[in-house]
Amino acid sequence: MKNAYAPYSHFRVGAALLTASGKVFSGCNVENASYGVTNCAERTAIFSAVAQAGPKMEICAIAIVNDHDAPCAPCGACRQVIYEFGPTATVFFLGAKGWMELPITDLLPEGFRLQ
Ligand code: THU
Repeated sequence: MKNAYAPYSHFRVGAALLTASGKVFSGCNVENASYGVTNCAERTAIFSAVAQAGPKMEICAIAIVNDHDAPCAPCGACRQVIYEFGPTATVFFLGAKGWMELPITDLLPEGFRLQ
């Protein structure tokens, strides 16, 4: 979260994921002047994990924090990317009523798969 590049929203987000092989990878949001190409913290963590651990990397759990202590559930795009690498992953995030711990399939019912 402290490494976030968020000059537009000033909303810094960090994500840390635990893989099936017990490794932890982290990421932050990286914004852009062309707002739509901003990368969320969750996807930065996942892409970093793939780059470092390889394409068989499996997500067991992922946790998300932000510097406003604001509710921050993963966006739709990140839910689909979490599901790709962790169809049984547990997601920890701050919801409107406090900390939540939910299976990705509760956040993304009927996620898309090709295999
Ligand atoms: N953001 C994340 O990194 N993760 C989330 O779960 C929600 C939103 C980022 C994207 C953007 O840089 C900033 O937060 C404000 O939307």
